[in-house]
Amino acid sequence: MNIKLIGAAVLGAALLAAPVAMAQQTVIKFSHVTTPDTPKGKGAEKFKELAEKYSNGKVKVEIYPNSQIYKDKEEMEALQLGAVQMLAPSLAKFGPLGVRAFEVFDLPYVFPDKAALRRVTDGPVGKALLAKLEPKGIKGLAYWDNGFKIMTANTPIAMPKDFQGLKMRIQSSKVLEAQFRAIGALPQVMAFSEVYQAMQTGVVDGSENTPSNIYTQKHYEVQKYGLETNHGYIGYAVIVNKAFWDGLPADTRAQLEKAMAEATVYANSIAQSENDEALEAMKKSGKIQLSKPTPEATLAFRKAMDPVYSEMSSRIGQDTIDQVLKATSSAGQ
Ligand code: LMR
Repeated sequence: MNIKLIGAAVLGAALLAAPVAMAQQTVIKFSHVTTPDTPKGKGAEKFKELAEKYSNGKVKVEIYPNSQIYKDKEEMEALQLGAVQMLAPSLAKFGPLGVRAFEVFDLPYVFPDKAALRRVTDGPVGKALLAKLEPKGIKGLAYWDNGFKIMTANTPIAMPKDFQGLKMRIQSSKVLEAQFRAIGALPQVMAFSEVYQAMQTGVVDGSENTPSNIYTQKHYEVQKYGLETNHGYIGYAVIVNKAFWDGLPADTRAQLEKAMAEATVYANSIAQSENDEALEAMKKSGKIQLSKPTPEATLAFRKAMDPVYSEMSSRIGQDTIDQVLKATSSAGQ
């Protein structure tokens, strides 16, 4: 055989093999609602990089950020239907799915700091919550941080009374609804992707979110005031379609678990600085006036929001609330 024929034979064999090789590649569509330059966006990119590396290209991760293909509610449905394989919804968005205990993460002032939060997510409560997703056809793989929330509005906000009558956008959590009602505001559930326009047109007066979300969604351009209350937390559960996950070859699943474990460490290590930098950038922009609450104001917010715990007890489950409070108060354990 001359060299040309050998070349043609090799090419032919490669072409024949190509569809087989392509058919063997597993594609993970990872949809999410924030921009790529957020803690979640960067965590997703890290997972893609590691998953493709550890699987030697057998797995391809396609990331669809910024509500590009699905908004909040739709992405949950898409995951259950198998139209996408992976999501990282905020913990405040599992109520509509019927898994209400996740709303324990939304209780006002429940986490004094990240260490207390970590004791919950890494402990038995965190595991038990993820297990509640399985009957819904969803497998929980990890918890990723965003950070603590601040309040924003178009009128000055310093004390709870300043929220009286304000239309505040919330995520789909009954705990967040109760929290805003407790300070006299009018909570309004709205998809993340719709918030900017709603603020711009006055459909809502304000919202609560993390600095990184407020910055990357440009909410600070359409909100005049921000109060650094740090009254609540936004984090994510990274979830997959359970049938898809269970159907993966064991070695591939192990490679993906390794990639997820490392991406989680990475995402959680950058979340705080991402939020700190976003806060600084907003201050520098001069577009929003940011202030810290006085100790009296913090006390007043805590006092006003405290009844949310008993109001939401049966929805979340008092046992879950108790376990979280125990874990958050056991400093140093
Ligand atoms: C929101 O809807 O405000 C956030 O949960 C969005 C996100 O995923 O961080």
